[in-house]
Amino acid sequence: MGWKMAAWGRVEKKVGRREFLKDREQRYLERRSELDESLEEVFDRQTLMTLYEMLNAKKLKEVRGVVSSGKESRVYHGLGWNGEEFAVKIYLVSSAEFRRNRLQYVVNDPRFKKIPREFRRFVYLWSEREYANLKEAYGAGVPVPQPFHQSGNILVMEFLGENGVRLPLLHEEKFEKDELENIYIQIVDVLGRMYREAGLVHGDLSQYNIMVGRGLKVYLIDLAQAVRRSHPMSETFLEHGVKILCSFFEKSGLTVDWGSTLDRVRRGG
Ligand SMILES: Nc1ncnc2c1ncn2[C@@H]1O[C@H](COP(=O)(O)OP(=O)(O)OP(=O)(O)O)[C@@H](O)[C@H]1O
Ligand SMILES: [Mg+2]
Repeated sequence: MGWKMAAWGRVEKKVGRREFLKDREQRYLERRSELDESLEEVFDRQTLMTLYEMLNAKKLKEVRGVVSSGKESRVYHGLGWNGEEFAVKIYLVSSAEFRRNRLQYVVNDPRFKKIPREFRRFVYLWSEREYANLKEAYGAGVPVPQPFHQSGNILVMEFLGENGVRLPLLHEEKFEKDELENIYIQIVDVLGRMYREAGLVHGDLSQYNIMVGRGLKVYLIDLAQAVRRSHPMSETFLEHGVKILCSFFEKSGLTVDWGSTLDRVRRGG
């Protein structure tokens, strides 16, 4: 049974039959596609409801293929009503490891004072954090995907890529030495801007969370772990992240110094 059929009974009560019938005309529901079935297999009822509400509110026109499917989240390619491409990141509410590894990031944040006990709410907090961090970083001119909407465990942001094909991650491409130098200099600049202007530290920095676009333009992604500079561990996170990146560049054949890189991120120049 596809999403269309199963969803009928489930959402009918909540949104009302009339509204549901109206929305049924939407291409999303008319098309009984494999994707609908896979959405239904992967996500629980509440997540499907949230997604449905977003589609219904026209925040999103349709959800297309899977861009990435990790243990704790899935990223889909989505389309907006003006033809824009979105990345739709949906956190899974079924991952048991989720809370344990993440508690350290959420303490002492004036934006999110309460740490929810209920697991589902904790996952929502994660999505809210990523949205808030993206907004602050984007607003400060840090190259991150522009965030558009967030609800429950679903985050809708700018799609980095074109026609459903995402940009490569830093670790996926082979670069010439001068290209690597260019990328390194940009990263130092971008991290510095994030630290000094947005007042944030990424928190999960590595070659797996950096994308490289046209003209070697660098983007940071995956900001749920980002913390404010006032967070008690922010400097430790920064040092750790810069260390990971420096060893990536070293392995790729560039000589970089951890201490002076850190210094430039903190003080600029
Ligand atoms: N805005 C975006 N545009 C295009 N692709 C994206 C975007 N955000 C994320 N992706 C793709 O989805 C993948 C996972 O996203 P992200 O790193 O934010 O989540 P994650 O929780 O780390 O997931 P994973 O455990 O799979 O790494 C990225 O490596 C990238 O391939
Ligand atoms: Mg990631």
